[in-house]
Amino acid sequence: MGRQYSNTSSIQIWQPNPALDLPIYRQIEAYIRQKITTGEWSAGTRLPSQRTLATSMGVNRSTLVTALDNLTAAGMIEGRHGGGTYVSGSGWHSMAHAALPNWSEAAQEGWYYPNLPEIQQINQAEFRPGIIRLGTGELAPELMPNEAFNKILQTLSSQTRMLNYIEPQGSLALREALSIHLQSNGIQASPDSILIVSGSLQALHLISVGLLPRGSAVLLEKPSYLYSIHAFQSAGLKLNGIAMEEEGLHLGHLEHAIHTLHSGNDENNSESFPLLYTIPSFHNPTGSVMSCRRRDELMSLARKSGISILEDAAYQELWLDHPPPLPLKAMDQEGRVLHMGTLSKAVSPGLRLGWLVGPVPVIRRLADIKMQTDYGTSSLAQEAAAVWFTDGHHTTHMERLRPELRKRRDFMLELLHRYFHDIAEWATPEGGFYIWLRFTAEPLSTRKLFSACLEADVLIHPGYLYDRLDASHIRLSYAYASQDEMERGLMVLVEVARSLIT
Ligand SMILES: Cc1ncc(COP(=O)(O)O)c(C=O)c1O
Repeated sequence: MGRQYSNTSSIQIWQPNPALDLPIYRQIEAYIRQKITTGEWSAGTRLPSQRTLATSMGVNRSTLVTALDNLTAAGMIEGRHGGGTYVSGSGWHSMAHAALPNWSEAAQEGWYYPNLPEIQQINQAEFRPGIIRLGTGELAPELMPNEAFNKILQTLSSQTRMLNYIEPQGSLALREALSIHLQSNGIQASPDSILIVSGSLQALHLISVGLLPRGSAVLLEKPSYLYSIHAFQSAGLKLNGIAMEEEGLHLGHLEHAIHTLHSGNDENNSESFPLLYTIPSFHNPTGSVMSCRRRDELMSLARKSGISILEDAAYQELWLDHPPPLPLKAMDQEGRVLHMGTLSKAVSPGLRLGWLVGPVPVIRRLADIKMQTDYGTSSLAQEAAAVWFTDGHHTTHMERLRPELRKRRDFMLELLHRYFHDIAEWATPEGGFYIWLRFTAEPLSTRKLFSACLEADVLIHPGYLYDRLDASHIRLSYAYASQDEMERGLMVLVEVARSLIT
């Protein structure tokens, strides 16, 4: 599915030099010719659009077109029916080299699904200078604990380094620190039942290939973060979305889905016990919190029906008004719940540090796969994370971060009330990063909204990234953009939205 997405070229950062004797169009020609002759742009590679190329190179479209015309005449590139300019596959390449590998075709053969096109666009655009990131799921650079990390690095510089490979489950010092840290969330987990991973995304990958048979179904909230990546689908698993209501997952629907899976009436049926993936606290993308009562009921239903649960606690500690109920893992007396945590959301996503808590046989199995995948998470990141917890940086940071995030949330809500009150509705998130905004005025294409905002240098996350059938939501985040950017970005958003509504 979706393989056609994989051939888009990245945006260029090279620019011609007007001080040179060579005319600009000749410089462009030479640049593209060099890309092609070195094989960096192989046969079949799609060139960025003329508009994108001209903008990124800082040249007139007509100058670019002259260069492209010359390259076309030389047989190096060609236009295709249906649009787009491609590195020529038949002409120049095959004359120069008898049997060139067709990398563009090969790049579509692998079994791993490509990202959705909008996610590819977001991943590229996030690094464009001047872009306003209204949907980004990470803290702004100024909210990161830079000073604390400078201190940690100083501490580490005076200690003896551990530069060898680390044991399969990860550094013992870090697992011991996490074991203590998890107790503050009501979770009893010995270091033996913890696996260190390179971000919780890796835990999802390990689980998808190590615990679940191909073809089996995974139950999850709909919408969900899990729909925005293809970790589970690429491993041959089927996602079975369950509706949500205010208190959290709709248990009636969940019970029905479990019953259908058990009774074999569903095409996703498998012999294994079903797994439910859930984000109970400050859900991505809705921001909602599963109530205490719903957590109790869910655990009872899990006991009754025999399902296992994968709890994603990425946002658990990012409460703004009051702490959420304890994690499901804290209520688990039987080893039914796997619990994922990460430093990415509250501390630093670049550190790539997460953990998985679960029964020892599961942890050992996944640690064995991890060893075959990457021989362990960076030892430096693990050492830094151990000091982060043991020296008390985590508690201090969270106490500083919450009021800052609360301020940003309140500011974004104020702007929404000012600009969007007659065209959209939303709930006030009590933590996490997200506001799940629903446009009440129909019809409005969130696809068009995404593209038009991107043209105006404003990035939003359309709701269909988290539920393919969603047509009325966007996910906003108050964690990344500055107040000034929020104001400018939301003004662009409302203007574009109103133009699409009328
Ligand atoms: C709910 C949820 N889980 C997991 C992740 C992955 O985070 P990481 O791999 O950086 O720990 C994210 C990131 O957006 C998320 O929102």
